[in-house]
Amino acid sequence: MSTPPKKLYIETVGCQMNLLDSELVVASLRKEGYELTGTPADADTILFNTCSVRQHAEDKIYSALGRLKNAKQEKPGRVIGVMGCMAQKDQKLIFQRAPYVDLIVGPGQLHQVPELIRGIEQDGQQRMEVSLGRKDGKVDTIKRSHESFDPLRDPTMRPTPFQAYVRIQIGCDKFCTYCIVPSVRGPEQSRPPSQVLAEAGQLADEGCKEITLLGQTVNSWRHEEDGRRWRFSDLLTELHEVDGLERIKFVTSYPRDMTDDVLQAVRDLPKLCKYLHVPAQSGSDEQLKLMKRGYTVAEYREMHDRAKRWMPDVAITSDFIVGFSGETDADFQQTMDLVRECRFKNSFIFKYSERPGTKGADRMPDDVPDAVKRERNNELLQLQNVISEEDNQPFLGKAVQVLVEGPSRKEAIRIERSEQEGEASPGQGLQLTGRTMCDRIVVFDGNARQIGQTLPVVIYEANAHTLQGVVQTDHVGPEVFDLAGSAG
Ligand code: 5AD
Ligand code: SF4
Repeated sequence: MSTPPKKLYIETVGCQMNLLDSELVVASLRKEGYELTGTPADADTILFNTCSVRQHAEDKIYSALGRLKNAKQEKPGRVIGVMGCMAQKDQKLIFQRAPYVDLIVGPGQLHQVPELIRGIEQDGQQRMEVSLGRKDGKVDTIKRSHESFDPLRDPTMRPTPFQAYVRIQIGCDKFCTYCIVPSVRGPEQSRPPSQVLAEAGQLADEGCKEITLLGQTVNSWRHEEDGRRWRFSDLLTELHEVDGLERIKFVTSYPRDMTDDVLQAVRDLPKLCKYLHVPAQSGSDEQLKLMKRGYTVAEYREMHDRAKRWMPDVAITSDFIVGFSGETDADFQQTMDLVRECRFKNSFIFKYSERPGTKGADRMPDDVPDAVKRERNNELLQLQNVISEEDNQPFLGKAVQVLVEGPSRKEAIRIERSEQEGEASPGQGLQLTGRTMCDRIVVFDGNARQIGQTLPVVIYEANAHTLQGVVQTDHVGPEVFDLAGSAG
């Protein structure tokens, strides 16, 4: 009789890099016979893939760990592990705060997870594998201690088999003064183009239509291989040749490295999504200098205007930090001005969270009261929402090409509920969601067969974050929807 498969529960917080890391860890544990479960109580192994960018993300994990205090008594032999940035940052402190944790693995050691779990199962001893700190040796030795984890992919492990993240860079050397990433993810290292192209080719062969290239400063990627000097735009050009791929995106871009050749590649290569995520972080020169971002507001504006001039339809999104050290009302108003001028598609806004070990924490007071941070966050978000909604209106009555990702969030909740209640699964009619070439979310009624297809959808409703539409057929064309909202 074969033993029942072991069950794995994994919780992921943080950025796309963490989502990809979790996908790869799950794939490697699947090879060991694990099956995923959505219920921690059923799991033989419980893993957290963690983030350290803000205090809040860490607090969430520590309280989730707190809830597992009795998890070992409930299921002897159960393995609890903490992976990712918080594992690298806090290291043994995690064992001190939660002694029942068995495993601590930094982002540079994820390839070791299956072996480490096997070891724990054999002797019950705790294991910790992390990279060297940024001052713990020669650059090359430190680099080697941060290994990119990119084993063969498993399409069944992704939210959809036709979309995939592809890592092209690990680490970061920019050292923005507020940011913990350079210390936990290590020195910037680019992945060789031969590997990236091979992975993209393999993904396309498996039916993947869209890839998103990942890096902390993805457009700073460059590489020398076999005497050839590659720029990021060269990599984009070669990836564009991969048969089967329909869409190529990349995040996150660094403003200063948004050079003409990169913008030209996005403009001229049809598979390149007309979507750029280029965080400005602040609209005040004083703040940008304290943040050590390496550009002025005028330089950011120039880059932004160039992109818009060359590609009027490009969607640009940004991140902002409010309440960084010394931010005055006047500084904040300059950030509001920048958002008004640039009219980003959307902005991710964060309250400054002091990170021990950064220059910001060591040398600059965290002197903006939390209430002020919160107010500024709300004010900026409100402004951005008004802009996002206004700029979605021109889509009314137009047809957009949508890569259909799957059931909408509302539909997914409905399906889950009816499954829990033991109802028969709904018929083929579903509310679906997908994205346009400029990364706008579109919701429409369709059927399961359309998932994975690229379809023309005519938009009849537009709010700040979503466009609503109907699939265009011979009978439903844009002319029918010339009058916005007349579709219902
Ligand atoms: N506090 C708040 N936000 C931060 N970010 C990075 N570090 C911090 C911090 N200490 C934000 C930046 C970055 C995004 C991923 O997170 O805006 O672009
Ligand atoms: Fe952090 Fe700056 Fe690097 Fe982005 S560029 S990961 S904000 S240090």
